[in-house]
Amino acid sequence: MASVQTDRNRAAQELFAPIAETYDRYASLLSFGQDPRWRRFLVSRVDTEPTDTVLDVACGTGAVAIELARRTGCKVIGIDQSRAMLDEGRRRVTEASLAERVTLQEGRAESLPFDDARFDGVTFTYLLRYVDDPAATLRELARVARPRARVASLEFAVPRQPVARAAWRAYTTAGLPLAGGLVSRGWRDVGRFLGPSIRSFEREWPLERVTDCWAEAGFENVQSQTLSLGGGVVIWGTRGSH
Ligand SMILES: C[S@@+](CC[C@H](N)C(=O)[O-])C[C@H]1O[C@@H](n2cnc3c(N)ncnc32)[C@H](O)[C@@H]1O
Repeated sequence: MASVQTDRNRAAQELFAPIAETYDRYASLLSFGQDPRWRRFLVSRVDTEPTDTVLDVACGTGAVAIELARRTGCKVIGIDQSRAMLDEGRRRVTEASLAERVTLQEGRAESLPFDDARFDGVTFTYLLRYVDDPAATLRELARVARPRARVASLEFAVPRQPVARAAWRAYTTAGLPLAGGLVSRGWRDVGRFLGPSIRSFEREWPLERVTDCWAEAGFENVQSQTLSLGGGVVIWGTRGSH
């Protein structure tokens, strides 16, 4: 891998390694059972053809890559820095009989091992909270997208409506660490980590700042939609021609 491993990279690796095998079984807990629906909406924003190749960054165990290949028939290259998540992802890709169309490989979003303008579409899910410089990472994602490529992302968010916000806060502060602890030590750590991570990212990177960075990175027609009372947000746009 070309880029130097940062403390943040290392922390993310340590967070995901212990939960890789059970990630898909329990991940929907973290989104109140909503994230399969969010991923389907994300994929619907990437207008790809069967002849296209899409890059899915922070692919984890391949949920988005599998949905993309199934839904549009395109080829997908998934990239993630966690070997444990990739191992589980490859097992799932084989189980889904998609090994000819979905390839998962190791790498970091900050320094993608691909030529400029290589991909017809790019997706990334739950990524920007794990990088030191989200604006630079967005520029790197834009670099590998061909002109007019569709790009879409999914991230957790803090609901803005007061009642939903209070329920979200109670769930992420108390419910999630407790529920995670019942599953395993790894899930307890994820349960403790997630609420503060989402809150601090939103404080520093409110949606408007993130979409501005998309535009600065070279994406056009940038749009966003919050989902499930604001617990998730999908952003999408088109790579500009220069
Ligand atoms: C919450 S998981 C999401 C996995 C998948 N996208 C999904 O929707 O289920 C976040 C993933 O981001 C990966 N990740 C974190 N930092 C990364 C980085 N700098 N480059 C590539 N992958 C990264 C982690 O290894 C983990 O698999």
